[in-house]
Amino acid sequence: MAGGSGSLLFEPATSGLHGTVVVPADKSISHRAAMIAAISGRTVRIKNFLQAADTLSTLHALRVCGVESRQEAGPESRQEAGEQTHGITVVEGVGLRGFHRPKGMLDVGNSGTTMRLLPGILCGQDDHTFKLDGDVSLRLRPMDRIVNPLRSMGVDIRAGEGRFAPLVVKAGEVHGIDYEMPVASAQVKSALLFAGLYADSPVRVTEPSVCRDHTERMLAAAGADIEKKGLTTVINPARDLELGDLIIPGDISSAAFFMVAACVIPGSEILLPDVGVNPTRTGLIDILKEMGADISIENEHEAAGEPVAEVRVRSSALRGVTVGSGISGRVIDELPLLALAGAFAEGDTNVGGAAELKVKESDRIAGLVENMRLVGVDIEATDDGFIVHGGAGIEGGIARFRSFGDHRMAMLGAIAGLASRSGVVVQGFESVSVSYPLFGVDLRLLSGGLQ
Ligand code: S3P
Repeated sequence: MAGGSGSLLFEPATSGLHGTVVVPADKSISHRAAMIAAISGRTVRIKNFLQAADTLSTLHALRVCGVESRQEAGPESRQEAGEQTHGITVVEGVGLRGFHRPKGMLDVGNSGTTMRLLPGILCGQDDHTFKLDGDVSLRLRPMDRIVNPLRSMGVDIRAGEGRFAPLVVKAGEVHGIDYEMPVASAQVKSALLFAGLYADSPVRVTEPSVCRDHTERMLAAAGADIEKKGLTTVINPARDLELGDLIIPGDISSAAFFMVAACVIPGSEILLPDVGVNPTRTGLIDILKEMGADISIENEHEAAGEPVAEVRVRSSALRGVTVGSGISGRVIDELPLLALAGAFAEGDTNVGGAAELKVKESDRIAGLVENMRLVGVDIEATDDGFIVHGGAGIEGGIARFRSFGDHRMAMLGAIAGLASRSGVVVQGFESVSVSYPLFGVDLRLLSGGLQ
């Protein structure tokens, strides 16, 4: 099974994928729950908070600022297929302006969401200076997208060369802004909405196309004066917030790997319960259905202001599709999976309007094209996406599929192996710990390798 350190061989599935997997909690919603709980005037109990490196980075950063948190019931434990007990993470809210002078630097590891959202809260704290830094990958990612608008709001925030971590935020006055975002980024939108809580006049943010709205939903639930009209969100300054106890739904971005695997591996039928199906996140389901996928959304209900459902996926024949920029904000983290689906589809799959993929945890266009070519897929990069000439599936072989330290690339490589004819070795598989530490276990469970 194992290759060298950090390398794992994923062998071709001998039959279809079957069974039920409860995917881990939503990463985006977990980050927001921790941050909004931190600035609430009460203790908040978060059920099913994601226990993975990125979200633990948020709890750690908050702790450095004096916000205590603890795990009350044990973390997720799996007794049998599909069975999971949720842990409870308790965050001791300190109120809107209750952060302490930081005990040191806020090390946010690999977490872009922590680094981009937190300054929106830090800028409103009483007279403290906060320094945020991250790992090598995070230091390469653009931070000017939050630095520039926050500076326009009067925030004293500095970045290396004006655009990279480390960031230094000095709390002080915050002014309102009417801001049109150049890219559809939920992280930028969220940072500005958080800063709007502390501003002296309203903050208006307009997104060029729909991107995830978890911040808006949770701030509204916590009593913020926030209103959404089309692509524009307006938030008024807040006096206090009170987030109720909540449960985090499963992460559709984690479920996405199994969804695509079940689509392309013949004879598959899987069920993914408790998956968040917020319409700002379901772009992949829409695209796969357009490709001919057999996906049904069952038992839809609401939990803590977010739509949740069971997602059932059966294998089916796929055809190529063209994906444009209008939908990319609803599917940005799942777009690389379309290279895999596209390899099995009849005709070309053309993904455009996705230049943002170049500035994720790795350059997900360059890395994807390099890796997919190594495993025998006919794929080419374009300026803002990629084109797959499909129909031949995935060969696999001895070449190593590199994660580039990127959790989603590692999981993609594993799925590619299962769907391949000769297996795929994934190098740097341990990166999955960023969002889905038990990904390998759940994958074996669905492929019958674990009873
Ligand atoms: C996220 C938003 C997206 C996404 C990231 C998480 C969030 O990034 O890619 O994984 O939690 O707000 P952008 O907002 O930069 O598009």
